[in-house]
Amino acid sequence: MGGRGLILGIESSCDETAAAVVERGARTLSSVVASQIATHARYGGVVPELASREHLRAIVPVVRAALGEAGVALDDLDAIAVTAGPGLAGALLVGVTYAKALAYGQELPLVAVNHLEGHIHAVLLHALETETQDLRLATPAQDDRAEDEEAALALVVSGGHTHLYLARPEQGTWSYMLVGRTVDDAAGEAFDKVAKLLGFGYPGGPWIDALARYGNPRAVPFAFSQIKTKLHLAGKIPRTKGARTAPIAALDPHLLFSFSGIKTAVLRYVELNDLRTEAQTRASRLFAPGAVARPPQSHEEALELCSQQVLDLIASFQCAVVGDLMKKSFAAAESLGARRILVTGGVAANRELRARFSAESARRGLRTAFPTLALSTDNAAMIAAAAWPRFLAGEFADGALSGDPSLVLGR
Ligand code: KG4
Ligand code: ZN
Repeated sequence: MGGRGLILGIESSCDETAAAVVERGARTLSSVVASQIATHARYGGVVPELASREHLRAIVPVVRAALGEAGVALDDLDAIAVTAGPGLAGALLVGVTYAKALAYGQELPLVAVNHLEGHIHAVLLHALETETQDLRLATPAQDDRAEDEEAALALVVSGGHTHLYLARPEQGTWSYMLVGRTVDDAAGEAFDKVAKLLGFGYPGGPWIDALARYGNPRAVPFAFSQIKTKLHLAGKIPRTKGARTAPIAALDPHLLFSFSGIKTAVLRYVELNDLRTEAQTRASRLFAPGAVARPPQSHEEALELCSQQVLDLIASFQCAVVGDLMKKSFAAAESLGARRILVTGGVAANRELRARFSAESARRGLRTAFPTLALSTDNAAMIAAAAWPRFLAGEFADGALSGDPSLVLGR
């Protein structure tokens, strides 16, 4: 048994097999991510069966690499933390089963972590590592300010989620209240689907991010209409019967997102403007055997790949999505009295999103924080960091732990 406060984090909820060693929830000693992008790229999305198989292949070498890079042995560890959900059932099972076996074999406590809480802790970990005082994880020993003063509005925006939470430190750990969410697609899913529709690579977010810089964001006017929950969602509980969070109909409709409409609007624009052939030609070029597809680095490179009209379409799409994410996040922060916003998840890597959120929060006298780019997308350092307060509080999982694809965060 270690005693140095070393937690080995394991993450396998989607298409990255990751392991990391984090000291006392605040110092990353190693963070190893084996991406399966190459496996899924040709399908334009994650294929669950392939994901499980790749996790099985990668988990042992990835954990070994994380321990090696951190310079620690299994005997030095104090706990194992693992993502218990939400995510793909078969993918979660690989990480959970492996973590359980390792914890049992080493006689170490096992901490089950919600993937979404992990994303939120990616921001807090970055703040701790860069000593950003006002975002530090408050524990009673470190900080005795009133709980409400510490509350933060968290936007988790990834390929699977677009959720708004009020995050509050509570007795050394954190509590979360769901205040907004998407009623259909996640924002990252919209980036991926639009990129696929236009014939670009997978995942789509980095492509759209790179291409949008060279287009006119005002060329195509996309609009988000107000969601009327009462009409079609009344009483429905999101996703699963077992969900403990507020039903969609109970949430403030001004804090609900919907990204399926803008995806259809892009499709309609493509059809009306005869851009389909251009997209198909591009896809066959980018996905040709042996082709190394990477997002363009200059306007010239971008124009070699696509027309200016497509660049304008992409810039308008991204501008509209970022604008909608901002509008609802700032509205939520204002109505809940949160002075701090944590933006996290794969889409938080987006450059326009970072720039506009930062500018708007400065204008409003708020503070917005992001994880590093590496911690924005899936990783295990965030899982080990999120586990630390739970480890201190003695919140351990037992041998019955299994992956829960629709695990809910908070209430
Ligand atoms: O958090 P993440 O790695 O996995 C999930 O938990 O879903 O997020 C992946 C998502 C994908 O949809 C990807 O297209 C998107 O994050 N993404 C981006 C960027 N980088 C990744 N979206 C917009 N701009 C980016 N730079
Ligand atoms: Zn994620």
